[in-house]
Amino acid sequence: MNIMKKKIKVGSMLKVKITKRAFRNLICFSAWFAPWKGLRKFFHKLRGTKIGKKVEIGYYVFIDNRYPEMIEIQDRATVTSNCTILAHDLSMRYIDNTETVGEVVIGKGAFIGMNTIILPGVVIGENCIIGCGSVVTKDTEPNSIYVGVPAKLIKRLSPQKQ
Ligand SMILES: CC(C)(COP(=O)(O)OP(=O)(O)OC[C@H]1O[C@@H](n2cnc3c(N)ncnc32)[C@H](O)[C@@H]1OP(=O)(O)O)[C@@H](O)C(=O)NCCC(=O)NCCS
Repeated sequence: MNIMKKKIKVGSMLKVKITKRAFRNLICFSAWFAPWKGLRKFFHKLRGTKIGKKVEIGYYVFIDNRYPEMIEIQDRATVTSNCTILAHDLSMRYIDNTETVGEVVIGKGAFIGMNTIILPGVVIGENCIIGCGSVVTKDTEPNSIYVGVPAKLIKRLSPQKQ
């Protein structure tokens, strides 16, 4: 899979009405801190994120506030506590009135270690493990371990039979 990041005029992809966006922001807290994993998943889904079967999402997982619908977490993937998954970057807003946006896919069976940051446009390969504290800036290969800032490949794993 190859998902491209793109530069757009600030806000030109904000298709969701302001009332719906306000609602999504309001339920962020429930998505972050609900005491049951099923509830956290429910609130993340309600915010628009695509979440597959048997997905685990820890406490305080920050899923993009502008475009939560651009993030997909596939079956059996685990996103542990305190991770951040971004689909947009407004750092150029006051320079040239553009923002960078890109869908993020966390592949089947992937495991994202605590405090990881995933940047826009990244695809995490199936059964991939991301070490805690990593910053993932590029796509990762399936069945492998990545760690660090920026995340680099350290090990390949034998593919799972699922
Ligand atoms: C990534 C991880 C799976 C690697 O485990 P491993 O295969 O046993 O790897 P090792 O411990 O043999 O480490 C291999 C190398 O990577 C480095 N490394 C391991 N984890 C790292 C991390 N998170 N960030 C940076 N470097 C890391 C080690 O220092 C080692 O470097 P060296 O070869 O220069 O000595 C593990 O360290 C990790 O981060 N797990 C996630 C933990 C977590 O977030 N759990 C959430 C609660 S369940």
